[in-house]
Amino acid sequence: MVSVKAIEARNITKIYKPSPVANKDICISVEKGEIFGFLGSNGAGKTTFIRQITTELLPTSGEIFVEGFNVVSEPEKVRPLIGVAPQEYGLYGHLTGREMLRFFAILKKVKIVKEMVNKSLQACDLQQYSNTRIERLSSGLRRRTLLALAIIGEPEILILDEPTVGLDPVSKRSIWEYLLSYKQAGKTIFLTTHDMYEADQLCDRLAIIHHGEIIAKGNPSTLKSFVRGKIKIVINQRVNLPVLEKFGEILRLKEDKTILIISQRDSIPNVVHILVNNDIIDFSINDTSLEEAFIHLTGEMFNA
Ligand SMILES: Nc1ncnc2c1ncn2[C@@H]1O[C@H](COP(=O)(O)OP(=O)(O)O)[C@@H](O)[C@H]1O
Ligand SMILES: [Mg+2]
Repeated sequence: MVSVKAIEARNITKIYKPSPVANKDICISVEKGEIFGFLGSNGAGKTTFIRQITTELLPTSGEIFVEGFNVVSEPEKVRPLIGVAPQEYGLYGHLTGREMLRFFAILKKVKIVKEMVNKSLQACDLQQYSNTRIERLSSGLRRRTLLALAIIGEPEILILDEPTVGLDPVSKRSIWEYLLSYKQAGKTIFLTTHDMYEADQLCDRLAIIHHGEIIAKGNPSTLKSFVRGKIKIVINQRVNLPVLEKFGEILRLKEDKTILIISQRDSIPNVVHILVNNDIIDFSINDTSLEEAFIHLTGEMFNA
């Protein structure tokens, strides 16, 4: 039997009427027990995608399943499985962190409220601020409060939108450690970030999203290997030839450009043969460092 994925998105497109197209034909599968990251610059479409998984926003087309449940037709089955830390604040400033967590725990029908609230506060290192009104907390502490809300009741899947943005390095690291321990307990995490380093530290697998489209997918070491001088074939059109995948990785840059990264020089004649046989003649072969290509590909992310 094929095991059910924690999250599966099939051809998700989201258009905010009349524009923009914020997500374009996104397909991903998140396995149970992994940390999957969406890496992209501001405006790439990360939050839009998250809000569709969490049943907040309807896809324009395509389907998303959470543990096999359709987010559109079975949202009531999806919600108890997920804990969400949104990017925008949804906190009540006049409550203290502890009150907010208690309120949330009751809403989520968590069984042992007091214990779960304390556990969440402790995990996010918030005990000493738990009786301070949220409106008086710094933005970093508010962000930690959002994470504490997401983990209350220890849901099977955490969905975190830029969980560490604005945090100091020590808090960031302690959140990373917590997330890794959450994974160790067999849970799944889907997160977004625009920080390459964070993605590398945390994620088992990543998808890079750019202008609403996934332009690369893989584990961090595969993606990093792009920067370690391999052979790059730049094809000046969008190419859809699955046969090329056996020679390396295909990155689609824009509508009019495809980059094929191959590691074996011996494959060059075969690849050229396939391209030419498919009437694709406008390409160049370049075996200098891929760093430049990668920076070009993700340039906006590095600058975000
Ligand atoms: N509610 C909305 N209405 C219209 N456009 C939106 C809305 N939310 C986001 N967008 C646009 O959709 C694109 C993707 O945004 P978003 O998903 O927030 O990206 P990210 O989270 O990666 O920064 C951007 O161009 C943004 O301006
Ligand atoms: Mg966002």
